[in-house]
Amino acid sequence: MSTSGSSGPAHTASPNAGATRGGFSSGLGVLAATLGSAVGLGNIWKFPTLTGANGGAGFLLVYLLSTLLIGLPLMVAEIAIGRQARANPISALRQLRPHGAPWWLIGMAGMAAAFLILSFYSEVVAWVFAYVAKALTGGLLSSDPAQTQASFDALVTDPVQSLVWQWVVLAFIGGILLLGVTRGIEAATKKLMPLLFLLLLLLCGYSLTLPGRAQALAFLFAPEWHKITPAVVLTAMGLAFFKLSIGMGTMMTYGSYFTASQNIPATATRVMLADLSVSLLAGMAIFPAVFSFGFTPSAGPALVFITIPAVFAQIPGGQVLLAVFFILTAIAATGAMLSLMEVPVVILHERWGLTRPRATLLTLLVLVLLGAGCALSQSTLAQFRPGGRTLFDWADHLSSNLLLPAGGIAIALFVGWAWGERAFAAQLSNHGELGNRALARLLCLLLRWVTPALILLVMLAGLGVFSGA
Ligand code: PHE
Repeated sequence: MSTSGSSGPAHTASPNAGATRGGFSSGLGVLAATLGSAVGLGNIWKFPTLTGANGGAGFLLVYLLSTLLIGLPLMVAEIAIGRQARANPISALRQLRPHGAPWWLIGMAGMAAAFLILSFYSEVVAWVFAYVAKALTGGLLSSDPAQTQASFDALVTDPVQSLVWQWVVLAFIGGILLLGVTRGIEAATKKLMPLLFLLLLLLCGYSLTLPGRAQALAFLFAPEWHKITPAVVLTAMGLAFFKLSIGMGTMMTYGSYFTASQNIPATATRVMLADLSVSLLAGMAIFPAVFSFGFTPSAGPALVFITIPAVFAQIPGGQVLLAVFFILTAIAATGAMLSLMEVPVVILHERWGLTRPRATLLTLLVLVLLGAGCALSQSTLAQFRPGGRTLFDWADHLSSNLLLPAGGIAIALFVGWAWGERAFAAQLSNHGELGNRALARLLCLLLRWVTPALILLVMLAGLGVFSGA
């Protein structure tokens, strides 16, 4: 265990890691790294996009309920498993339950989910990088919807730019991992995230003076019940999984680096609340602009990229602030990508015996191939839509609406039935130090019955099984 004051798995900073496992070095480091995984494009890009496309307030309400009732207990469960086993997800599940059902398959599915998510996530980060460059050279500011839409379309329909920016992103992440500067990045994230928060606050304050304010607030906070269909509920639940980085082993892996004295339920609750605040701020910064400047809330993945430049176009110094906004977004996304990469890298390293640098290179190579399908999905491969979805949309849909919830069911069942309440409670209370026995009992009951049943129901309904579609 590292004793320095910075955060991040200590082994990622050491060039010859392998013999000993690292861990986060302080309580604050644990919180920062976990928050670094949760906060990312999910808040700034996916949350507004999905809230806009799924009718607003009703979606938001279901998302909040999923986060509280399903997300939080699962996040606690994953961290507890990780910290007990102090190993990658596959080894962890094998170690805690060596016999019986093959629970370690959850780790394999998690690795697949990490690859799927990274293949489209890296493309959205690519757009963010491209926007930083555009903002710095001054080609973006305009409050004319047609013009901001045209800028975005020009980027995503150009195969060369789409691919090259994605490679830049993958090289950047690879560089951070190979040079072992993860801790440096996480230290920077710790300092810069408050700045992102402030900038969002400023944007939100400004947006709320725009004429579309009332319409935006009604859109976000006054539910139209008929818009809450089973598919909307599934999407909202999928977003809750994606946002909290659960259902695929990321939190298990980060849990394995937690300090022994960390209060798991308190940390998870703080991360959830901070993450939620960032999403809500992003929503309140974006939707007033949507209604004021005549954008449509359901503009899809382009929403953030067309509305944010329009808002900054109105603010003095908007040019610089716009560049800062996308730089901070890129940094937030980097923390999330590092945590996604950590799942396959640590599995390849600990289970398949590859050195960390080799495991990183192999992961990147796979991503260059898989990611190209997503990068080109609005240009070269725009017509390739098996089942009505582009490859980008498939990667997004399969991960959030299928793999993460299925992983969630399996993890809940594992804790509730296989691992058992006693061991789970011991982890939650730091072996009796914290008096939270009743909480452990409640969570275990939830995980045993309610969580898996609820997720299954939402998945089946959302995928149209009951309607025979
Ligand atoms: N939570 C991250 C975000 O909101 C994405 C993520 C998903 C990270 C799954 C790790 C695992 O951007």
